[in-house]
Amino acid sequence: MELTQRISNISESATMAVTAEAGRLKASGVDIIAFGAGEPDFPTPQNIKDAAIRALNENFTKYTPAGGIPELRKAICEWHRQQLGSNYEPAECITCVGGKHVIFNVMAALIDDGDEVVLPIPYWVTFYDVVNYHGGKCVVVETREAEGFRLNAADIERVLTPRTKIVIVNSPNNPSGAVVPPEEFEKIYQLTSSRGVTLLSDECYSHFVYEGKPFSVGSLPGSKPHVVVVGSLSKTYAMTGWRLGYALAPKALIAAINKLQSHSTSNPTSIVQKAGMEALTGPQDSVPQMLAEYRRRRDYVIPTLNSIPGIHCAQPGGAFYAYPNISSFFGRHGINSAMDFSSALLHEAHVAVVPGEAFGTNEHIRISYAASMDDLEQGMERIRKFAESKA
Ligand SMILES: Cc1ncc(COP(=O)(O)O)c(C=O)c1O
Repeated sequence: MELTQRISNISESATMAVTAEAGRLKASGVDIIAFGAGEPDFPTPQNIKDAAIRALNENFTKYTPAGGIPELRKAICEWHRQQLGSNYEPAECITCVGGKHVIFNVMAALIDDGDEVVLPIPYWVTFYDVVNYHGGKCVVVETREAEGFRLNAADIERVLTPRTKIVIVNSPNNPSGAVVPPEEFEKIYQLTSSRGVTLLSDECYSHFVYEGKPFSVGSLPGSKPHVVVVGSLSKTYAMTGWRLGYALAPKALIAAINKLQSHSTSNPTSIVQKAGMEALTGPQDSVPQMLAEYRRRRDYVIPTLNSIPGIHCAQPGGAFYAYPNISSFFGRHGINSAMDFSSALLHEAHVAVVPGEAFGTNEHIRISYAASMDDLEQGMERIRKFAESKA
C-alpha cells in the first residue's frame, strides 16, 4: 500500500517516543524517573470531575454542535476577557479536541503548498510536523540561550519574506520556559500585522508565569483580525487526558475550522465540554496553587542543575520545563548529541528526559518538572552521578 507524500513528511512525536521507551523499561521492572512527559502531575480538580459525572448522569451524551456548545464558547470568551483582557465573542471561538487539534485545524485552514511559517527555535515539536504535513515550509528563527531563549521582533523581521503566512509565538515556551515580555510581544504584533502576516499565539501555558501576569496578544486593541489565539485546558486545569482546546480568531477562520471539524472529529466529547465549563466558570484556586508548586520546583531544579559540573541551564520564566545545555559532554564516552546523552541517561541512570533534537536544538535536554519533589530530588541526584561518571 502506498502512503501519501504528506504523511511521509512527518515523524512520530519525539516526546511521545521517549515516554514510550521509558514506559517499556518501567514495564520490565526498571525504576524509571520520568521527566519526559509535559503534563501536570496534579489530578484534575474535583469540581471539574464532578461536572463531568453530573453531565453523564443527566444523559448529556449526544452529539453537540461540531464546534462545541454555545455556552462553552461563551464561557471561553468570558474567561479570556476576565483573565487576559480580550474582547472575543462566541462566533470568534471554536472548541476542538485539545490544543494540538486546534493547531492542526488552523494550519489546515491557512496553509497552502509552499507557504512559509516562521517558527522560533527551540520549538514545540508538533508545530514543525503539522506545518510540514500541510505542505508549508518552516522557517526557523534562532533565539539565544544567553538571553534565556527570549524571542524578539528584530530576529523575526530578518526571516520574513513575501511568502510568510504565519509567525508562531509560544509564550511561555515549551521546551525552554521562555516568556516573551508584553512590550516585545507588541512589537512582534506590530511587525506581523504591518506585513499582512498572521500571528499565531499559543497560550497553552499562559497561566504559568513566574513574574508578571498572564498576557495575550489577542487583547491588544485592534489585533483581532491579525491574530489566532490557541488555548487549551490541558495544562491550566490539569486536564491533559480530557482533550479540550480552543481557538479565538476571525469569524471566517472559525467558520472554516468548523466546516473541517464537522467532517472529521465533530464535537469534542459532550461531557468534557460540561467539565470545561466548570473549569472556566467554577472556583479558580487550583491554578495559583499549581503555579506556586511549579515555582517551588523550579527554584529547586534550576540551581541544582547549575550546580552539576558540565551542565548549565537558563532560568525559565514560565511553563514547567528546564532546558539545560549538556554539550560539554560531547566527545566523551560516545556521547555526541543530546539524543546520545538522553539515551545513556535513560539506560544507565534510569532518568527519562527529551533530547533537544525534538525541539530543533542539539545541545539541550528538556526536563519536565511537573513531577513530585521526591522524584525531582532523586532524579537530580541520578543526573549528578551520571554527569560525574562522564566527566
Ligand atoms: C506548546 C504547546 N501547545 C499546545 C499543546 C497542546 O496540548 P493539548 O493538545 O493537550 O491541549 C502542548 C502540549 O504539550 C504544548 O506544549
